[in-house]
Amino acid sequence: MTTATATATSTHLTASSGRLFSKGPDVKYGDFRDDLLKNGYVVIKGAVPRERALKYANDIYDWLEGFNLGFKRDDPSTIHKDHLPEINEKGMCLGYAISHESFTWAVRQEEGVVKAFEKVYDTEDIIVSFDSVNIGFPSRKDIQPNVPWPHQDQDPEKPGFRCLQGLVNLLPNGPNDGGLIVCKGAHLLSEELHKAFKGEERIWSWTKEWYGLTDANREWLKERGCEWIKVEAQPGDLILWDSRTPHYNLSSETSQPRFCVYTCYMPVADATKEQLQVKKKAFEETKMTTHWPNAMHVVDLPVFRNGEPDPYQRSKPRSEVQLSDRGFKLTGIPYLESMA
Ligand SMILES: [Fe+2]
Repeated sequence: MTTATATATSTHLTASSGRLFSKGPDVKYGDFRDDLLKNGYVVIKGAVPRERALKYANDIYDWLEGFNLGFKRDDPSTIHKDHLPEINEKGMCLGYAISHESFTWAVRQEEGVVKAFEKVYDTEDIIVSFDSVNIGFPSRKDIQPNVPWPHQDQDPEKPGFRCLQGLVNLLPNGPNDGGLIVCKGAHLLSEELHKAFKGEERIWSWTKEWYGLTDANREWLKERGCEWIKVEAQPGDLILWDSRTPHYNLSSETSQPRFCVYTCYMPVADATKEQLQVKKKAFEETKMTTHWPNAMHVVDLPVFRNGEPDPYQRSKPRSEVQLSDRGFKLTGIPYLESMA
């Protein structure tokens, strides 16, 4: 098909370059970006080869068993906080330098994952967050229930496309296996939603970059035809979503655990020198940064076990972080050095 024919048969402009949304939501790229523009989320099948994704899941099991607290992957009766590192009801593991474990960095450096973000931002000069890993086990009665907390990870005062979030799914994740649920298409209504509810009381948050949706917000979106979709994925699939797309996660209702690594990248040009300095320090101290790749937040929370500081908490991963040249660029450190 010639370009002329393609143009003649389409009511949309075609685009091949520029950051996502830089030409508005009505252009066509002819790839996964079209779904991101329209729906606010997309699943990229096989961004990581399935076998490798399952190996990473296996590495997580090794890591869990390696605490020697009695957890055994083949014995569901050992899925208990007494036998596991601290994992909250949403499946988030926030301690133990998990953000810098071998499997976490291996996933972040996966070519299919990095390339997807390069395409979204139309540049190879991107940096990656040092975010968490989700280890969601089914039927946990030993921790509090996971109640839905629909939210946007973006300050309503700063509208427009700013951040693309991602996760690499490592185990089969069907309709009832827990995981991400998104409000399809609501990213395009975000600005209008916040205008309509301006001045109304907000759900408390420790950061302005998190907006919890109220029942009234959800009703407003429903009236405009937005549906909540449970995203399904296979091992190695990369799920991407616009930070404006309301989302939360569900716990598994089957016997299938849900493991995933959060992967979020942004252009290095979007980070200030000061932010890159904070990021460098977080890397050197193997700290977590939330999903923001510009190290907007550095997480350094105490980890508790039965109300006491967890004696199994550690500030370093099991082995020193090993990175490829590409991986090291993703830390932002080489860019900082060139600014000196
Ligand atoms: Fe979120």
